[in-house]
Amino acid sequence: MKIEQAYEGSIERKIYSSDQIAATIDRLAARIAADFTGQPLLLLGVLKGALFVVADLSRAVGRVSGGPSEITVDFLCVSSYGNATRSSGEVRVLKDTGEMVTGRNVVVVEDIIDNGLTLDYLRGLLEERKPAVLRTCVLFDKPYHRQADVRLDYVGLQCPDEFVVGYGLDYQELFRNLPYLAQLKPWVFSS
Ligand code: IMP
Ligand code: MG
Repeated sequence: MKIEQAYEGSIERKIYSSDQIAATIDRLAARIAADFTGQPLLLLGVLKGALFVVADLSRAVGRVSGGPSEITVDFLCVSSYGNATRSSGEVRVLKDTGEMVTGRNVVVVEDIIDNGLTLDYLRGLLEERKPAVLRTCVLFDKPYHRQADVRLDYVGLQCPDEFVVGYGLDYQELFRNLPYLAQLKPWVFSS
């Protein structure tokens, strides 16, 4: 059996298809490209969740004519404490950026924002390093339980008030490689 088929038993419903996600990435890429015309751009992905967003977004920005003069891709890897389905905002940086942030045009790329504490923490951390420009990009927005008022510059798709998986998002390190966004069946959380 394929892994995708094995996952299907755990999935309640598909929320966004891979085509809808791809179209959204193109839309975000067009805006980012226009905002950084002729300038160097550092796309800074937050691992692990943003791995596919950065992979697809960096290439989509590259396809836009009149975009940045160059694109550098880097990652930082964080893990936030909390329960299984909600972050506490107490963020542990497991791997910091390799690139210097000082003086650069930086777009932080996140998979999803929920209470906002993770992105708020990262914004603070990166601001201290005095980037020339610091913007935030999230593919999925869950605006229902915000605890930090984080400015979002590029927002992809509204997400229902559910725990979702796929396109980089995991539940207990599984389902990241699902090509679409899905809601899990309730029994998955109790098993
Ligand atoms: P926040 O700190 O609540 O904004 O959560 C941000 C981080 O929590 C994201 O980068 C994700 O890694 C994780 N997260 C939030 N909601 C979900 C979800 O529905 N599925 C999987 N991970 C999530
Ligand atoms: Mg994440």
